Amino acid sequence: MSIGVFDSGVGGLTVFKSISEKFQQVDMYYIGDTARVPYGNKSMDTVIKYSKELANFLISNFHVDLIVVACNTASSYAIDYLKNNLTIPVIGVVEPGATSAISITKNNKIGVIGTQATIKSNSYANILRALSKNGLNVYQKACPLLVPLVEEGKIDHKVTEIIVKEYLDEIVDEGVDTLILGCTHYPVLKPLIKKIYPQLNLVDSSEAIINYIEKIGINKFEKGIRNIYVTDESSSFEILKNMLIGDIPTFKIDLDSITKD
Ligand code: DGL
Repeated sequence: MSIGVFDSGVGGLTVFKSISEKFQQVDMYYIGDTARVPYGNKSMDTVIKYSKELANFLISNFHVDLIVVACNTASSYAIDYLKNNLTIPVIGVVEPGATSAISITKNNKIGVIGTQATIKSNSYANILRALSKNGLNVYQKACPLLVPLVEEGKIDHKVTEIIVKEYLDEIVDEGVDTLILGCTHYPVLKPLIKKIYPQLNLVDSSEAIINYIEKIGINKFEKGIRNIYVTDESSSFEILKNMLIGDIPTFKIDLDSITKD
């Protein structure tokens, strides 16, 4: 069994890490599109094109059995395209995150934060409303500055605290009891968000996705391979990668090799 994980950059390693720890026997391949990150301010057509290229890279080179779309923006814009056009199972992070939030909320008030594209797509709001049997109130907020802050390593920093409050106070004031961290980078900020808003339940898709993978069925093998690829060299990728998953080597691939039809 092998799993291919892709993201626009480094943030998806939060998802790679949780799958890797849970399913140690599986071979895992990751590609971060460091040459074209960020996706969060790009159009749907562009995100679909990039997502297709990354999925094809993982399928044609490693014959993976499952694609995990770790990127929330790609999960919001490209998941239907990928599910309809690939011959292997595809799991995004939106549905697992939404399912987990519904099971946690007590007052049916759920907040969602993400990139501009994820919030504009309404992906979380739509699926939350579709899956919930009780009427839900969903409060969404795009938080574009949080990605560069995480990439700069400002994880527990007063600047980040000010920006988090600037973004979140308004939805927390609505009384949400559960907040979906709808972007790959935000789980890194969990301790800071919890410090500011201890009353909130934080939903981390990198954890929620595990149940979905379990449903697909994983066989036991020897300890699996772990390979990481990027489309451009990136020092912030290396720093965050080492922080998240340790010293697994990174291989750079030629972007032209995946963009040719
Ligand atoms: N990976 C993206 C996401 O989860 C965040 C970074 C980006 O904008 O590409 O939405």
